[in-house]
Amino acid sequence: MLDRPHPTPEAPTLDPFALAKALSGAHFIDGRYVPARSGRTFPVVNPATGIEIGRAAEGDGADVDTAVAAAARAQKEWAKMPARKRGALVHACSAALKAHVEELGRLIALETGKALRTESRVEANVVADIFEFYGGLGSELKGESVPFAPNVLSVTVREPLGVVGAIIPWNVPMLLMALKVAPALVAGNTVVVKSAEEAPLAVLRICEILNRVLPPGVFNMVSGFGPECGAPLVAHPEVKKVTFTGSVETGKIVYKAAAEKLIPVTLELGGKSPMIVFADCDFEKTVAGALTSMRFTRQGQSCTAASRIYVERPIFEKFVAAMKQAVDGMVMGDPLDEATDIGTIISEGQFAKVKSYIEEGTRTPGAVAHVCSAMPKDPALKKGLFIQPVIFTGLTKESRLVKEEIFGPVTVIQPFDDAEAVLAEANDSEYGLAASLWTNNLKVGLDLAHRLEAGLVQINQNLVVQANLSYGGVKSSGLGKEASLEAMLEHFTHKKTIMVNMA
Ligand code: NAI
Ligand code: MG
Repeated sequence: MLDRPHPTPEAPTLDPFALAKALSGAHFIDGRYVPARSGRTFPVVNPATGIEIGRAAEGDGADVDTAVAAAARAQKEWAKMPARKRGALVHACSAALKAHVEELGRLIALETGKALRTESRVEANVVADIFEFYGGLGSELKGESVPFAPNVLSVTVREPLGVVGAIIPWNVPMLLMALKVAPALVAGNTVVVKSAEEAPLAVLRICEILNRVLPPGVFNMVSGFGPECGAPLVAHPEVKKVTFTGSVETGKIVYKAAAEKLIPVTLELGGKSPMIVFADCDFEKTVAGALTSMRFTRQGQSCTAASRIYVERPIFEKFVAAMKQAVDGMVMGDPLDEATDIGTIISEGQFAKVKSYIEEGTRTPGAVAHVCSAMPKDPALKKGLFIQPVIFTGLTKESRLVKEEIFGPVTVIQPFDDAEAVLAEANDSEYGLAASLWTNNLKVGLDLAHRLEAGLVQINQNLVVQANLSYGGVKSSGLGKEASLEAMLEHFTHKKTIMVNMA
């Protein structure tokens, strides 16, 4: 149980500013808040105003050592607990989270600039759902019996890997953390999470809430920067598995470091997801579907965002006009305001990066930038990292905007004439995370679904990651799956064979 006293209120706290302050300056290790060994902290900024809302502990190798040691100690007892009992505790985590959904939604909105109604509250609910889903899977950690010889009993058993190091990004930090922590725990591992430097507070609060249910040391969290705090976690000899979500560049660094120790790695590294719209689609539904697919409510900061939309030529102009009108109807403003659809970009670095893509697209000969949606007028938000969404047409497949992950509210719409040609263009990408097809001809749709290079293909919908569905990409989008039973079994356990000779 949680070792109190500690600086945060136990009850759900609806004032995110007060909660951010109370959460400041600590990691969460071995069941309690602890400052960084160095004493250092770094600022956490509200991207809607540019104002500091709190501070995070600036972790380094010394803090990682403490956290991993606690996790390694706790893992021995945790692994001995019957799997269903671990599941029951993870299920109880879900109940604890449900009581804090509103609080967590508000805190993540403040910290990341994602609108409360369209994104942040939704994320908080999905986190509780993921813990609930995995909580029921304790008894699925089954092995097999193998027909070897009449007098030999040969069976496989699933064993945990040990301490799992989880490194998460800032775009959907609570959800992406849940996809790692919940299955790792049910499988009998313990976890040290390294939060993203831009969004360390809501995940810290979750760690504290879940430590009211879990034994100390089972779930630990450190905050800090990538090379100083993430790298020592990956390199730590007691860390037996690394699961990472973030950029391709950092994913490769993590993979190489894990290779030095020969430990398994799961990587989820983003995408450039195509959306293919045929002229026979249900037009209104497809426009509504495209609006959610582009993830503009998350300012496009989504690895599955439909950032390349291919539309069959007969409906191309009509589709672009409808999309522009639909995006124009979205409200941009204070992320904590219930009326807001679109909030802010996470950080100045990402802001500059997205802006540079938009400028490049705007300068490209032949390209048209359809700039959508009004900027917020509130003077308190004048320093906010708001970017007006842009739909580009007239770009060719050579453009960086068609090839690279922008991670901003930017979509490129291109016309196509032929299913084979559009398939080739869709597959002509370094990435392969997600894709969607919009058509009433399911024969064509299914044929293309089989031939699209992506981990997830949806026809006539484009939902975000859901518990129970395997999620993960091919090519540079990553390695391994998350969110499913299979993800827990394959990525958080190893199979041991035991043979008994009874002859
Ligand atoms: P990043 O990949 O650098 O950061 C992700 C996490 O990795 C953070 O917690 C960071 O501290 C950690 N990290 C950084 N360097 C590390 C190292 N050497 N060892 C261990 N951990 C390390 O992503 P960043 O810089 O925040 O965003 C850059 C781009 O990455 C974005 O523009 C976007 O294209 C992509 N991205 C993709 C995400 C996805 O959901 N797949 C999420 C976030 C970013
Ligand atoms: Mg980086």
